[in-house]
Amino acid sequence: MKTIGIIGAGQMGSGIAHVCALSGYDVFMHDIDETAIENGMATISGNMARQVGSERITRDERHDALNRLRATPKVEDLVKCDMVIEAATENEKVKQAIYKTVCPHLNADAILATNTSSISITRLAAVTDRPERFLGVHFMNPVPVMQLVELVRGIATDDATFQTARAFCDKLGKEVSVSEDFPAFIVNRVLIPMINEAIYVLYEGVGTVAGIDKAMKLGANHPMGPLALADFIGLDTCLAIMQTLHDGLADTKYRPCPLLVKYVEAGWLGRKAGKGFYDYAGEEPVPTR
Ligand code: CAA
Repeated sequence: MKTIGIIGAGQMGSGIAHVCALSGYDVFMHDIDETAIENGMATISGNMARQVGSERITRDERHDALNRLRATPKVEDLVKCDMVIEAATENEKVKQAIYKTVCPHLNADAILATNTSSISITRLAAVTDRPERFLGVHFMNPVPVMQLVELVRGIATDDATFQTARAFCDKLGKEVSVSEDFPAFIVNRVLIPMINEAIYVLYEGVGTVAGIDKAMKLGANHPMGPLALADFIGLDTCLAIMQTLHDGLADTKYRPCPLLVKYVEAGWLGRKAGKGFYDYAGEEPVPTR
């Protein structure tokens, strides 16, 4: 494979484009929103500069990677891609609509992958024209830093597709964990209910935002507290994953905390909105309760 397409220039799409370009792939990052494209390109350029600053990569590597990266609002440009990774918002209807639009423009042999963090790969594959060449390739945030990619086969995914995706992850320098196609796979099946429980702890008044995060950082050696991590992931994404777990496994232990629902309804979606469990307007994040 030589050319990778990424659909979505948000925090996951831009992170995936970043690591693909640095690993030598030609990359087309597609988004219908030109502002999202501008922001995504600025994020990639800034994060690569940060990596040059800490001597993780050289100036030349950054320069070459940025030259291999093209942002495009035109879906037709994806015809040149050997593999296209959809990294749109965590909403099944949105993803289905994207596949309907994109599939007619793809090379007949191209692999279509989704970065979904929770939705059934088999169900998503069924609305495409290539279920045998469709699979889940789930990156973690921040993509340039996190080592893991989860690979998930749908019921129809063929072996050649799976092995190609595994070789792609190797080339990116990522470790692979293989998950069966069940709601939220492995990482989010464990991580997001933990975050949801931390929100219940806040909701019930057991601890404050700062107290809960301090407890889990210093008491369990987590690099971020669960509420700071929820803001980092995006509260809308956390809620969508809890809903997928609740619907898909039909078990009340996965019920989303009402406080999480309220924050999402308020538009307090975390860092990307400037406000979630913390307010990010000033120099330092300030707890919102
Ligand atoms: N791009 C490139 N480099 C980045 C970066 C980015 N977006 N973000 C951080 N870095 C680099 C920094 O430059 C720094 O590099 P050096 O060590 O070379 O100096 C390094 O990462 C550490 O960053 P910081 O010093 O700024 O901050 P930190 O030490 O607090 O680490 C963190 C930041 C890596 C995000 C860390 O807090 C962490 O690991 N947090 C947990 C992240 C996590 O759990 N992610 C998974 C979320 S779940 C998910 O993604 C799945 C899903 O579907 C929801």
